[in-house]
Amino acid sequence: MAVRRLAPDNVQPASFAFTPENAAWVEATIAKYPPGKQASAVIPILMRAQEQDGWLTKPAIEWGAAKVDMAMIRVLEIATFYTQFLLAPVGRRAHVQVCGTTPCMLRGSDEIIKVCKNRIHHDPFHVSEDGEFSWEEVECLGACVNAPMVAIGNDTYEDLTPETFTAVIEAIARGDEPNPGPQTSRQGSEPEGGATVLTDPGIYDGSYRVNIAAEPEPAAPSAPAE
Ligand code: FES
Repeated sequence: MAVRRLAPDNVQPASFAFTPENAAWVEATIAKYPPGKQASAVIPILMRAQEQDGWLTKPAIEWGAAKVDMAMIRVLEIATFYTQFLLAPVGRRAHVQVCGTTPCMLRGSDEIIKVCKNRIHHDPFHVSEDGEFSWEEVECLGACVNAPMVAIGNDTYEDLTPETFTAVIEAIARGDEPNPGPQTSRQGSEPEGGATVLTDPGIYDGSYRVNIAAEPEPAAPSAPAE
């Protein structure tokens, strides 16, 4: 696992504040826990801060530590342990998480990563020249049956080819909202080209009956020759 550090001070903002809506959400989240257990809310608070600003800043971590009365070092441990926390600025429009784990790799994630290197930046966690995109390689995101796939924000884009992935990126660059999910004719995780089992229509209208033919009696073993 790579060493994860906070972004350098020259890119950190001077301060952090939640929007009024998010501040109310934080209060409601902390209130879910018994008195004295407010530290249990620290991960949701850090994640909300990241969703608000696009990445998790040092002032946000300090704010979270003070809010739930935890030592700063303990909150730093959390922020630097979980790779879901983005510790440096990311693309304004999208941060692309490309799954590179075995099923996605076998189905072509290397080609998806090549598109990221050419379209966004040669290296992960670097923002594109126009500041709009960034990318990283991540471990399995749980959509292996639709490999290869990427996650952008709360959406996943699946069954990708370099061409369809490029189309997703360019649509986002134009300000469009491409449809998440499989980028093929698949609706979910059914076999490509249609069902290969349970194809009898009677299964769905209730007329299907199992027809088990009687098994022939096994032949008696013949006596060994004298
Ligand atoms: S291996 Fe890529 S989603 Fe599971």
